[in-house]
Amino acid sequence: MSADVALEVKGLRTTLFLREGRVDVVRNVSFQLNDGETLALVGESGCGKTLTALSVIRLLPDPPARITAGSVVLDGSDITGVPESTMRSLRGDTVSMVFQEPLTSLDPVFTIGDQIEEAITAHRKVNRREARDMAVEILKEVQIPSPRQRLDDYPHQMSGGMRQRVMIAMALVLDPKVLIADEPTTALDVTIQAQILELIRAEQERRQLAVLLITHNLAVVSQVADRVAVMYAGEIVEEAPASEIFANPRHPYTQGLLSSIPSAAGDSKHLYTIPGRVPDPRVLPPACLFAPRCPYVISRCWHDHPGLEASNGHLLRCWNPQPFIALKAVEPEVDRSVATSE
Ligand SMILES: Nc1ncnc2c1ncn2[C@@H]1O[C@H](COP(=O)(O)OP(=O)(O)O)[C@@H](O)[C@H]1O
Ligand SMILES: [Mg+2]
Repeated sequence: MSADVALEVKGLRTTLFLREGRVDVVRNVSFQLNDGETLALVGESGCGKTLTALSVIRLLPDPPARITAGSVVLDGSDITGVPESTMRSLRGDTVSMVFQEPLTSLDPVFTIGDQIEEAITAHRKVNRREARDMAVEILKEVQIPSPRQRLDDYPHQMSGGMRQRVMIAMALVLDPKVLIADEPTTALDVTIQAQILELIRAEQERRQLAVLLITHNLAVVSQVADRVAVMYAGEIVEEAPASEIFANPRHPYTQGLLSSIPSAAGDSKHLYTIPGRVPDPRVLPPACLFAPRCPYVISRCWHDHPGLEASNGHLLRCWNPQPFIALKAVEPEVDRSVATSE
């Protein structure tokens, strides 16, 4: 392997300490992210993707959440036990994070320029003018028109897409090794989504960034990811190169997610949806966590928790993998009885 490892997460467990007791919401999660590589972390809402990211960058809401096992190695250094002051110097500098809704991470009472300059001067000994020039440069790089004028804008004066560009600019201005993007396009409409993804892809290439792209939407992944890790109920259930995930998904959950994308299913009128929903982490199924929703469940799945095993170039957590056939929506009863008018 020639590429350097930018981020390695090993056996991560993140626990919520709630009034009703402790609940592990991220369990034994491991992944590796190389320089210049995009790893997508995919799964439905509630699977633990955000808590995984916040564990890495140590912005967990504490209480209730705390890392209770595992390690995080960033750019060659184990940062698992380092004090908050060290994390503060790493955040924004070595590892940056972009969130779903830029309005919540940008401060409404400061201009864009103030906020980018603040991000710079917190880490670099530069004067105001130098910081301002860096801010203009980075806004130009993320294709914000008339960047010098935009510095005086307040966040609410910009469109959602422009605000997300500003967030990306702020995340990249100190040239980090790792960018974590948590649902960076979910709040945006489809055309803007594609532009933001393209921007992330271009920056990733230009800067040899390691990108951890978190999304609930597998369609987003096909545009940018090199590898995909599929997360379900706090665990990784499959990991493989992106091309493999799309051509040959092996976990029934991955297959279900793929069947829910209009293009993959071919028929957007009867789009598949995985039955049921992500379990509440306080009441998990007894063995395989996907068993209650799985079309291929066998008895073993109810009493034996599957491990994550290497299998044909994938990592797979499943007792009964089946070849992929795009799963079809079950036609509702009423359709059959009134289908005569077609
Ligand atoms: N502050 C919190 N208090 C209680 N439960 C939480 C909190 N944050 C997250 N959770 C729960 O932890 C689980 C994982 O959440 P999250 O990491 O946000 O999932 P995702 O990003 O995949 O949608 C969910 O069941 C969620 O309800
Ligand atoms: Mg989330």
